[in-house]
Amino acid sequence: MLTITYLSHSCFTISDGTNNLIIDPFLSGNPKAKTAPEDVEANFVLVTHGHGDHWGDTEKIAKNNDALVIGPNEVAAYAARKGLNAHNMHIGGAHDFPFGRVKLTIAHHGFSDGESDFDIGGSPCGFIITMEGKKIYHAGDTGLFMDMQLIGEEGIDLAMLPIGDNFTMGIDDAARAVDFIKPKKVIPMHYNTFELIAADPEEFRKKVKDSEVIILGVGDETQL
Ligand code: NI
Ligand code: MN
Repeated sequence: MLTITYLSHSCFTISDGTNNLIIDPFLSGNPKAKTAPEDVEANFVLVTHGHGDHWGDTEKIAKNNDALVIGPNEVAAYAARKGLNAHNMHIGGAHDFPFGRVKLTIAHHGFSDGESDFDIGGSPCGFIITMEGKKIYHAGDTGLFMDMQLIGEEGIDLAMLPIGDNFTMGIDDAARAVDFIKPKKVIPMHYNTFELIAADPEEFRKKVKDSEVIILGVGDETQL
């Protein structure tokens, strides 16, 4: 049994009771987050790309927990430069970790933040995470792309998709993404953190036909 907890924005924890993963840990400076980075217990930190609202508190959490940072090459190399344990991957590649398998997918988005210390370049990604035989697709920040059909062919149990528009898919395209991926369950993310990405998840629910939409409030959890 996997427990998935929503910490707001694109940040989730996934736990099998032994291994604790956190994805895109944007907590400090996040007006919706209720969890302090000091309170996070994680063995693995997965980061989709180098924007501040995804890298977030990776450094603090990884240091506090002696955790392994997993991400596309550029983000993992940045983590290593910060003295963190890091595992470099890239798009299309998969690797077996103690908790299961991680595969990096494409994401149509940017990477640089334009800040001198953090202008790390590279390609953003999504993750397909296989744990306890369940497949979870975290799309990262992305627009809609036809190759989501290929991701769907892998048999996705749970998809986490951005719906906030402006920087990523909005509700209409996220609903089309569900048609491409055909996950059993889908959780909307990357909305309502800021006014610019305001979106009504109930509107998303209405537009999704064949998958179960799970709307998680901040701190809510679901089991898979
Ligand atoms: Ni981004
Ligand atoms: Mn973002």
